[in-house]
Amino acid sequence: MTAILVVDDEKEIGTFLSHLFLEKGYRVDVMSCGSEFLQIELETCFYDLALIDLKLPDTNGLMILEKIKQHQPNCKVVIMTGYSTIETAVRAIKLGASDYIEKPFDDIDLLEEQIDQLLLKTPTRGGQHVTNLANEVGFIIGSNQTMVELAELAYKVANKNINVLIEGETGTGKEVLARFLHQASSRNYSSFIGVNCGALSESLLESELFGHEKGSFTGATKQRKGLFEVATNGTLFLDEVVEASSSIQVKLLRVLESKEFMRVGSEKVIKTNARIIAATNENLFEAVKQKKFREDLYYRLNVVHLVIPPLRERIEDIPLLLNYYLQRYPEVKLAFTDEAMDMLQHYSWPGNIRELTNFVTRLVAIEDANEAIIGAEQLPFSVQPQKETLPAKVKSNVAEMSPNHKLKEIIEKWMNKTLNKYEEEEVNLEEILSEMKGLETEVARAFINKALDKTYGNRKAASKQLHINLRKLRYLLNEKEK
Ligand SMILES: Nc1ncnc2c1ncn2[C@@H]1O[C@H](COP(=O)(O)OP(=O)(O)OP(=O)(O)O)[C@@H](O)[C@H]1O
Ligand SMILES: [Mg+2]
Repeated sequence: MTAILVVDDEKEIGTFLSHLFLEKGYRVDVMSCGSEFLQIELETCFYDLALIDLKLPDTNGLMILEKIKQHQPNCKVVIMTGYSTIETAVRAIKLGASDYIEKPFDDIDLLEEQIDQLLLKTPTRGGQHVTNLANEVGFIIGSNQTMVELAELAYKVANKNINVLIEGETGTGKEVLARFLHQASSRNYSSFIGVNCGALSESLLESELFGHEKGSFTGATKQRKGLFEVATNGTLFLDEVVEASSSIQVKLLRVLESKEFMRVGSEKVIKTNARIIAATNENLFEAVKQKKFREDLYYRLNVVHLVIPPLRERIEDIPLLLNYYLQRYPEVKLAFTDEAMDMLQHYSWPGNIRELTNFVTRLVAIEDANEAIIGAEQLPFSVQPQKETLPAKVKSNVAEMSPNHKLKEIIEKWMNKTLNKYEEEEVNLEEILSEMKGLETEVARAFINKALDKTYGNRKAASKQLHINLRKLRYLLNEKEK
């Protein structure tokens, strides 16, 4: 028989819930405080589900949650709370609660549905469901404990209309996680709209977010809806939120507090119910400390805080991710020797999963055979362990120098050689630097000549190919003629 425990000091709630469950044929025990709960012999009296009020007269619901989970890890715990304590409810989920429900219960059908679902779900079925949903948006969870817990927490809060802040280094999958939250929510029938707060000027971002009326500024030739309006039933993803100017931050705070805003050039108040997910590469709390980001806005956005670990901290998932991306090219069957895989797992992946996807694309592109086993020596230089001769400072500069990996590899190789060469000689850095200036021009000319060869001497086409303007190309060639 299904057994349910209710701990709540509000008598009406206890009576209501016990009627509800007795009707379904469940056994129900109702307690009104912590000391009563402590009388239960948890070693022998088992429950399938416990509904616990967060605020009890003599204790905190979190203490009861921990005690139950300690003795009966399979018992589902639901925390009951008022809106003002939502942050604590989220903490409860982190401590192992399955869900939380807000009091007073507005929608009894929804409450019943939530509870029925919890009673139905076995832990493995729940886990499988999360994985399936994640696959739908290309979000590989893997087996790293931090990632598994992160995905579970994301899944649990997906359906709540609360704001989520996602932090993580570049390329760790912040947008993918945001899409997963959207997919796992009941808003998934509506749109997921992303806006990069760092990519637009202040006025453009303002009109993008809030919309504008015709004629409200030069260039506003027609009325435009803002994203808060367009995404009202869906999810609005504020990417790089730390980049929003202080005036946009004020406006964001206002709309998050009141769920209302006005289009630029209008005084009409518009309501929005968009679910907000914000993301940043930076530690947002640090930005608050440095006065770059408003503290009040930080707390509004950060109701749930999800931090994605960098790839180098989840190396057990690297084989899975490599295979996932290799499967996108079914025409080429590639595998790695153990040594190569070990090297890939110990590489630092500064560009995280994005770098890994680029790595796979490149590997497939340069592989001639349809089937190959890649050995350590065939891996690009950048992935190979760095030579100790290269000082750490130089190493990190090289890593940051250019997104163009090919160039990075060449320079790194060259630098190793050069440093070795100078090992026993006296170094005159000024001379080296001036020689390098000359080399720079030579390299530029070599690229230009190659492009001119390809374009049969067409300077305009060559400059286009090289992403420089014609004047610059001429300038560099003129130097040659001097
Ligand atoms: N968990 C994951 N499973 C599979 N692919 C992933 C995962 N996370 C990220 N990726 C892939 O890595 C790339 C970068 O992901 P995404 O754009 O979400 O990163 P980001 O953290 O938003 O990066 P940035 O800070 O640069 O905006 C994408 O191609 C994405 O598909
Ligand atoms: Mg992103």
